[in-house]
Amino acid sequence: MSFRMLAVSAFLVLHFLAGFASPIVTGAQDELVKVPGGYLLKSNVHAVPEGGRIVHSSDSVQLIDAGGRVLHYASLSRSKPAFTRLNRPSSEVRRNLESAIVAAIWDAPSIFTFTSDWIVPPAPQKYSNQLLYYFSALLPPSGDAFIQPVLQYGPSVAGGGAYWSVGSWFIAGDTGYYTNLTQVLSGEQNVYPFILDEDEFLGTPTTHAWYCGFEFHQQESSLNIQTSETFNVAYVALEAYNAISLLNLPGQTTNIVNIAIANDDNEFSSPIPWTLFNDTADGITMKVVSASNGDGAALQIQYVGNSSSKQGLEGERVEEQLTMKTSRRH
Ligand SMILES: *[C@@H]1O[C@H](CO)[C@@H](O)[C@H](O)[C@H]1NC(C)=O
Ligand SMILES: *[C@@H]1O[C@H](CO)[C@@H](O)[C@H](O)[C@H]1NC(C)=O
Ligand SMILES: *[C@@H]1O[C@H](CO)[C@@H](O)[C@H](O)[C@H]1NC(C)=O
Repeated sequence: MSFRMLAVSAFLVLHFLAGFASPIVTGAQDELVKVPGGYLLKSNVHAVPEGGRIVHSSDSVQLIDAGGRVLHYASLSRSKPAFTRLNRPSSEVRRNLESAIVAAIWDAPSIFTFTSDWIVPPAPQKYSNQLLYYFSALLPPSGDAFIQPVLQYGPSVAGGGAYWSVGSWFIAGDTGYYTNLTQVLSGEQNVYPFILDEDEFLGTPTTHAWYCGFEFHQQESSLNIQTSETFNVAYVALEAYNAISLLNLPGQTTNIVNIAIANDDNEFSSPIPWTLFNDTADGITMKVVSASNGDGAALQIQYVGNSSSKQGLEGERVEEQLTMKTSRRH
């Protein structure tokens, strides 16, 4: 394992544990929202208008409209510890499936394109405002930013509800941007997230250009990003929030196939040495079905629950209690 790989793994371990360490402080009037990658203040999360693009440098991130006007500017403080945004509100007490993460990571020498096929899972049997984010993202080794086409189920700050939808996000430090969501059908189609290097057309000696989105939904879901950082860490993940029982998750395994990650010479080095992060406490795992790069490559997410039936039953009981409480209030 290279030094960089160790560094990335260390930050991801932090990422997973961050939720239970130092909580972030929120103003009374500002609300924390769950974005792909963790929690951000709602006031720091912005919709990208048509033709909008993002410009990310070492000390700021900006949203620019089609006419070149700056719609939003945020300075990025490097002195802040990375991933404070991943912290959970201090008031929340963790329970099973409330906040689950599994991931497969590859700290590649370089990345030029990253494409994959997500088979849209069947809708979960139960809907109780759970939020599921599935994504094939790119990060810089510092882990302080994400370029991510996201498949979502449930409601987020970007929209959504009891259906699957796709959209793109860019997150830098404690600021996030998202595109409109487009609904996709449960278990009946694939979606095709892509992240492409466009340095050839839009790069400069000191900046990189990226274009991400979903094939067949480019009009609505795509995002142009200019950044001074090098994004060479591939990150395939599921983040589940607010689930109560396994019924809030897809009832069968989820497959991510045809994962193709090209390097700067447009070569697909194989096999991909994925590092996996399972969530044993919640009983969700990420498995390498085939570590090849391109056709036939496959990762699989399995939802077995924690000590199977016991956890499922407890989840159901909690749900019953919640339902009783809610109905008493009405
Ligand atoms: C996003 O959706 C809103 C509401 O439907 C619409 O007004 C806006 O133009 C859309 N933005 C883009 C970029 O398509
Ligand atoms: C279930 O979760 C608990 C606490 O979250 C953990 O200590 C335990 O190891 C988990 N059980 C299994 C079978 O993974
Ligand atoms: C994660 O779970 C998968 C599926 O059960 C297993 O194949 C893999 O070895 C586990 N990996 C780690 C790092 O625990």
